[in-house]
Amino acid sequence: MLTDDDGAYRFVTIKPGAYPWRNSYNAWRPAHIHFSLFGTGFAQRLITQMYFEGDPLIPHDSIIATIPDKPAADRLTAKLDLNASRPLECLAYRFDIVLRGRRQTLFENKLQGG
Ligand SMILES: [Fe+2]
Repeated sequence: MLTDDDGAYRFVTIKPGAYPWRNSYNAWRPAHIHFSLFGTGFAQRLITQMYFEGDPLIPHDSIIATIPDKPAADRLTAKLDLNASRPLECLAYRFDIVLRGRRQTLFENKLQGG
């Protein structure tokens, strides 16, 4: 999908569920969505994950646990946005992705050639 002129985006999807994995005994990933962002070309790619506010598995996630910067880890959690929700249809979560600066979103990779 493309962002608009202000960099805003919106999409509708099914909220994913938690899933088990074999990282450790009885390990579960919290519900999350992987984001792959492209700049003006495919070589400008940034990757991150978004979690959902209130998910009790977030504090138990071994991926989140690898992030030493707690505020940066917290910014990976989308906040419930009732104003953007559609009555009797769907909830909405707000996930602002910040490309640069002090409040930059934590990315799993570095921009190539940048
Ligand atoms: Fe995943």
